[in-house]
Parts: sequence; C-alpha cells; structure tokens
Amino acid sequence: MMVRARARAQINIALVKYWGKRDTSLNLPEAGSLSLTLDGLGTTTTVVFDDDAPRDTLTINEEAQQGSALTKATRVLDALRERAGLRSHATITSHNSVPTSAGLASSASGLAALTQAAAVAAGLNLSREALSATARLGSGSACRSLFGGFAEWSPGKHADGHDSHAHELFGPDHWDLHVLVAILARGPKSISSTEGMEHTRRTSPFHAGFIATVSQDLQEAKAAIAARDLMSLAPVAERSCLRMHADMLAADPPLCYLQPASWAIIHRVQTLRKEGVQAFFSADAGPNVKVFCTPEEVPMLHAELEAMPGVKEIIICRPGHGAEVLDPIP
Ligand code: PMV
Repeated sequence: MMVRARARAQINIALVKYWGKRDTSLNLPEAGSLSLTLDGLGTTTTVVFDDDAPRDTLTINEEAQQGSALTKATRVLDALRERAGLRSHATITSHNSVPTSAGLASSASGLAALTQAAAVAAGLNLSREALSATARLGSGSACRSLFGGFAEWSPGKHADGHDSHAHELFGPDHWDLHVLVAILARGPKSISSTEGMEHTRRTSPFHAGFIATVSQDLQEAKAAIAARDLMSLAPVAERSCLRMHADMLAADPPLCYLQPASWAIIHRVQTLRKEGVQAFFSADAGPNVKVFCTPEEVPMLHAELEAMPGVKEIIICRPGHGAEVLDPIP
C-alpha cells in the first residue's frame, strides 16, 4: 500500500524569542514565545508512506539528508505513525525557498510542512493545535508555523508536552507589517540552534535572567500587536532579541552569531527609528537581520539596506498563512 500528501508551510520570525528547553527530547521550552509567520519564504513537502520502503528518507532541494535533519523528521513521523497505527516508512521530498540553515528558520517551515503532509498521508484528521504539538517534536519553532499571522507558543505544564503548542493570536490580515530580510550569509551556520540553545542553558550565567523577562515581554508585545502600534512593539522585540544574544554571548565558550555587518544594520535601524522611522530589527541564530516596518517605509529601508556593506540580498515579506495541504492523494 502507498499513500501520499503534499503540504506547504512558511517560516516564522519570533518577536519574543524562544531560547532554552526544559526537556530536550520533547523540545519543551522553558518559557513562551511569539512570532509572525511570513509569506513567500517556506517549504513544500511531499510525504509518501510506502509498505515497500526499507527506511525513512529525506531529501531537501534534491540533496539526501542524514544526521539531525533526518532525526528531526523521524521524530515527527514516529509520533504520527503511533497515532495512526501505521508501520510503513516514509519518503520525504522537500523544497525550500529559504536558504537552508542560515538562521532563516528553514527548519520551522520544513518541520511544519512535513507534519501537515504526513498527518494527512497517514489518514489523521488532527486539529491545528495537535499538529503544532507534533511539529514541535521535530523543531520547537516549527510549532508556530502551523499558524498564520501572529502566533504564541504556550510552554505548557505537562511532562508529555501535549499542552505545549502554538495558537493563533491574530491572523495575517490583522496588521500589514512588512519584513525586509537582509541576507548576509547563505551557508549553513557553524553551530545549530539545537546545540547553541542547550550550550547556553547549561553554561550562561545570564540564562535565568533571560527566561525571567519573557512573560513581561509577551504581555507587552501582545498589547502592542493588538493595537497595531509599531513604536510600542519595537522596544519589546529588540530587547527580547538582544537579551537572547546577550545570553548566548555569556555562554562558555561564548556563542556569537551576529557579525559586524549585522551590528551595522542594528545600529542603523535604531538611528532611523530615533528620527521617526517606523521600523525595528530582529535576528536569530545566524548573522541575517530582519527589519520589521510599516508598508510606507519599505522603499526607503530597502535603499538603506542595499547600501550597507555585506548585504547580499534583501527579501521583502508580509504576514503569511499557516501550513496548508496542497493535494492529498489517497
Ligand atoms: O526550534 P529551533 O531550533 O528552530 O530554535 C529557534 C530559536 C530562534 O530562532 C533563535 C528563536 C525563535 O524563537 O525562533
């Protein structure tokens, strides 16, 4: 027997950052987080469950994957196979429109698309929350990409993680926040977020301080998003980002994902905002910087970023939709 399905999901960028797990095998976070799902940057994945397949396989952009990428995918498949009472292995074929492993959350869109496609192929009719909790097993941040627009990941309380999933705060039409993604490097990062996060949690004396600030940041970010108030959201998102980086920098040995060109953009955005420009920055476990702004500021910020040293490409995004099934084929 052979069943297949195809799904698409898009990346999300955290406005209140997730950095630290209370359970590494289930990807249970120590605190909540909040993100915006972006359109146009994502993953399309086909999953085929085939009784004759000897093992699970994964290709991303035509390249066969082993190691952590396959392990993450297998965790999701195992959870879905158990629910569906299915024994067959899966052939997973993924295409990213995001540079893989460049701090651009390709694992978030990848694991979200895989979860959605594999659940349908396995004949499961799961709620978005249940899909989100399953995607979390592969990559924590993927649980937010099941949802469009602004999503919050509640850390949950239970040891089995069933209550640790994202939910939608506001759909993509709530606020037309634009994001300019400034690509400074395309190659894979030297230390994965999985590794960097656990290293920080174990060795950074700042880590407890970072975690202690998250609930206040969540509260303020939610109020600013509800009011579509960029100038109130800006300081919250920037401090959450920089406190996460401060936590990483305080690890032993330190983790330094940002490069001089990243810092130059950060300073430029701060200066422009002081001059009244409606924009703020964010950056994750890689050197690329994302600049959030109102639609009116896009042309000016695009010209500013284009002139900055080290910027290889600028991708303009808007709020995007959650994971969607493209064509279930029984
Ligand atoms: O779940 P992961 O391994 O993709 O962790 C991602 C962590 C950050 O992107 C740095 C922050 C976040 O909340 O997305």
